[in-house]
Amino acid sequence: MKDYKRYLITAALPYANGPVHIGHLAGVYVPADIYVRYLRMRGRDVVFVCGSDEHGVPITIKARQEGVSPQDIVDRYHGINKKAFADFGISFDIYSRTSTKIHAETASGFFKTLYDRGEFAEKVTQQYYDQEAGQFLADRYITGTCPQCGKEGAYGDQCESCGSSLNATELKNPKSMISGSTPVLKDTKHWFLPLDKYEPFLKKWILEENKHWKVNVYGQCKSWIDAGLQPRAVTRDLDWGVDVPVPGAEGKKLYVWFDAPIGYISATKELTPNWEKYWKQQDTRMIHFIGKDNIVFHCIIFPAMLKAEGSYVLPENVPANEFLNLEGDKISTSRNWAVWLHEYLEDFPGKEDVLRYTLCANAPETKDNDFTWKDLQTRNNSELVAILGNFVNRAIVLTHKYYEGEVPARNELTGFDKETLDEIASIKASVENSMESFRLRESLKFAMDLARLGNKYLADTEPWSLQKTDPARVKTIMNISLQITANLSSLVAPFLPVTAKKLEQFLNIETVAWENIGSHDLLPPGHTINKAGLLFEKIEDDAIEKQLEKLRKTKESNAEKEVKVDPQKEAITYDDFMKMDIRIATIMEAEKVPKTDKLLKLTVDTGIDKRTIVSGIAQYFDPEKIIGKQVCVLVNLEPRKLRGIESQGMILMAQDSDGSLKFVSPSDKVNPGSNIS
Ligand code: 2FM
Ligand code: ZN
Repeated sequence: MKDYKRYLITAALPYANGPVHIGHLAGVYVPADIYVRYLRMRGRDVVFVCGSDEHGVPITIKARQEGVSPQDIVDRYHGINKKAFADFGISFDIYSRTSTKIHAETASGFFKTLYDRGEFAEKVTQQYYDQEAGQFLADRYITGTCPQCGKEGAYGDQCESCGSSLNATELKNPKSMISGSTPVLKDTKHWFLPLDKYEPFLKKWILEENKHWKVNVYGQCKSWIDAGLQPRAVTRDLDWGVDVPVPGAEGKKLYVWFDAPIGYISATKELTPNWEKYWKQQDTRMIHFIGKDNIVFHCIIFPAMLKAEGSYVLPENVPANEFLNLEGDKISTSRNWAVWLHEYLEDFPGKEDVLRYTLCANAPETKDNDFTWKDLQTRNNSELVAILGNFVNRAIVLTHKYYEGEVPARNELTGFDKETLDEIASIKASVENSMESFRLRESLKFAMDLARLGNKYLADTEPWSLQKTDPARVKTIMNISLQITANLSSLVAPFLPVTAKKLEQFLNIETVAWENIGSHDLLPPGHTINKAGLLFEKIEDDAIEKQLEKLRKTKESNAEKEVKVDPQKEAITYDDFMKMDIRIATIMEAEKVPKTDKLLKLTVDTGIDKRTIVSGIAQYFDPEKIIGKQVCVLVNLEPRKLRGIESQGMILMAQDSDGSLKFVSPSDKVNPGSNIS
């Protein structure tokens, strides 16, 4: 590999339209943070940038749903997420946001540079337009059937079911997310990045030079390139985002996927006046940590933008992860099916490392994985408590018991002692090797092997049985156990930073430098250690049950929100049914009953006669628009007076799940008076 001088690590900017959840953490932020902590421990020059993605339709849709401004939404979630990341210990050098001035200047400057160079194709194309709402329907403002996989609910820019990136005009049965109406096509001008022009470059750069990328990442890029790259619009007709800084683009904004990755640049600018060192010197190793839905944007579109601009580095690797599910179901912000980071931190104070450990040990590195609360409990109780905590506790407690906390000197070493001590460096090499290839679950497993080694060493040497008979041997055993503990304090630090700090405090030492891991002499004889505090505590069933109960409630409430179907009524006889005289009737006249909100007075032609019916449907129909409509009427219902008007029958209505009423009408026109049976 090239001799890189510095690292620029980016973590996908989460949309500020909801809180961060375990899916985000497992896919992006925990792996990025582990890797960055590892680099820092190795003394690398590294910047770690992230921030809120505050533009795009996900934000404006949320604002519309809540009846507040997009700025209100991004302010709220930027605050929540920035705090949750900090409380959780994700060690960004900066957590910025894309609504800053510096970002608008950087993104629009980037666009302008490409525009001035004639990089964009300017095209008038037809885009979907919602006539009721009076606006163009960019990206997620439109849904329909995916042309690739046939699933309903695909968005105008992407199908979440099959992951295809789409153009809104490719959707079948398009529907506006704003009014629900069927949109029409209307001319509008936009600027296109000619990805086709960059195809030869991308082919060579990815398919030949980036064969070391993860299989899932390389594979997705290859299928994109093999399908042939098309020019892609990088502007939108929206009123929220970065202005397009060129003549003729008034009222238009940059496409969120054009401005968001530039957010990495603006965040670095905000962090340091030296930002160009990281972005423009070719011996920088830039790595993007992302989820699989972001692959095309980070591996194809953003690199094409960077290449077109010409002065920036390209990513050396993009170790995208797959998705994490929750208790067998896809995590969903809108269905509230998630474990939210800020809630976890409230429910499990001081247990940041337990979540980091569980998410890393079960990271969706090569396939989608499932998070379960039972798994978190087992990983905590059977691994963190029983392996790591148990070893450290035994080493420290016995040192206090035998030597009042003073590290004893080693005596003559056995072959087993030497093997055990040598194993430390070889475990360290395995941790590094897996880490460098972004196999972080494997790397964590190796780090835990050092605690396993310690447990095995104590179990095999049994110092507690020898203290009376061979105290000199016990000194050697305890010295070696303490050296393992000191090595552990740094080896686990990228994965378990809170635990690492506690170990340093227990051992009364400064951080062991990474290059010294493997040493057999981290704790000199005579050094006094502190008493062991609590490293991990057992998580009891009731804490897990509480979380499961919360999820059950979410399921119940989602089910209630879905179509509510009343249970079937008691059985009736055929004769009962035959007593009802239901006819097709035509509405002749309709008017609101004065001083009521709900009642309409209708005159209907039942074929038998023309009669008056008072019906509680005024909220749902405009009287003028229902004249001539054919409806079903129960004509032999006993007449009754409503607001002084005698109602002579009942119009049959269907009540939708949202409570709204619809007429039950014949599919074709029939004669009034036709029987319904
Ligand atoms: O998928 C997402 O959540 C996007 N907001 C990620 C953006 S990453 C980068 F380009 F900013
Ligand atoms: Zn699809």
